[in-house]
Amino acid sequence: MNRFLTVGDIGDLDQALREAKEVKANPFKWQDLGRNKTIILVFFNSSLRTRLSSQKAAQNLGMNAIVLNIDKDSWKLETEMGVVMDGDKSEHLREAIPVIGSYCDIIGVRSFARFESREFDYQETIINQFIQYSGRPVISLESATRHPCQAFADLITIDEYKTVKRPKVVLTWAPHPRALPQAVPNSFAEWMKAADVDFVITCPEGYDLAPDIMEGVHLERDQKKAFEGADFIYAKNWASFEQYGQILSKDMSWTVDAEHMSWTNNAKFMHCLPVRRNMIVSDEVIDSPNSIVIPEAANRVVSAQVVMKRMLESLKK
Ligand code: CP
Repeated sequence: MNRFLTVGDIGDLDQALREAKEVKANPFKWQDLGRNKTIILVFFNSSLRTRLSSQKAAQNLGMNAIVLNIDKDSWKLETEMGVVMDGDKSEHLREAIPVIGSYCDIIGVRSFARFESREFDYQETIINQFIQYSGRPVISLESATRHPCQAFADLITIDEYKTVKRPKVVLTWAPHPRALPQAVPNSFAEWMKAADVDFVITCPEGYDLAPDIMEGVHLERDQKKAFEGADFIYAKNWASFEQYGQILSKDMSWTVDAEHMSWTNNAKFMHCLPVRRNMIVSDEVIDSPNSIVIPEAANRVVSAQVVMKRMLESLKK
């Protein structure tokens, strides 16, 4: 494996889930695999879970992990090609990326959507430059349009908590005061479409995800109907794709509260975190026994470790 950006990069999902179980049961079994290997985790944006779970996964595999916070720890980086660098950015990504690559064996990158241009974001301009210029395997730690480590952890969590072979999984939009990227819902949808689940998206008008993500998805505009019979409710806010990056609604009737959960089949509540309490989800729901947000976050170590393990195994070949 030399890149991890989308569900297609993981291959067979049943095999990936079997590997996840093995890693979770025996996290230190592959300590020798990462000996004398280094991963550099590059963050253009803030993080709690991704940063810590990636470091922990690397340590479990015996790897050295170095975290670089761009704009805080390093020079400000220019990302546009062909510009006159007479502003506040001292270094170009074109040099910074191969330099970073020369210090490590694997690179992880977090670079969110900027919402300045849908084309720039959906072409995955930043992470693709890391792939092109680093000469190293690259893991997306959340790119402009995908968050595969999160979606893999979500799948592992659903597999652990499901009580029927083919659970009903509902991704619901919920309100938020700020415009958030589509990376988490895009990846969640992509992975659920590939998994053996009955997958439904519910969101207000204007919040449909990108056409290739929505393709083949059961879209139910009525949130109550969507929740009926659900085994898992996955709440998330995202800004509009159609009116790119815009907030079109802050309708609090979409907030997942106890009444919403009463429509379901005693569903488990999921969210990638961080979450705005009483915007996305009520205290009552997130604090209830049906909330599995903490084990979901804990599985971020497992998903990252499976991906890093596969990359290290590929480097040995
Ligand atoms: N879910 C997630 O990626 O969390 P962080 O933004 O804290 O890394």
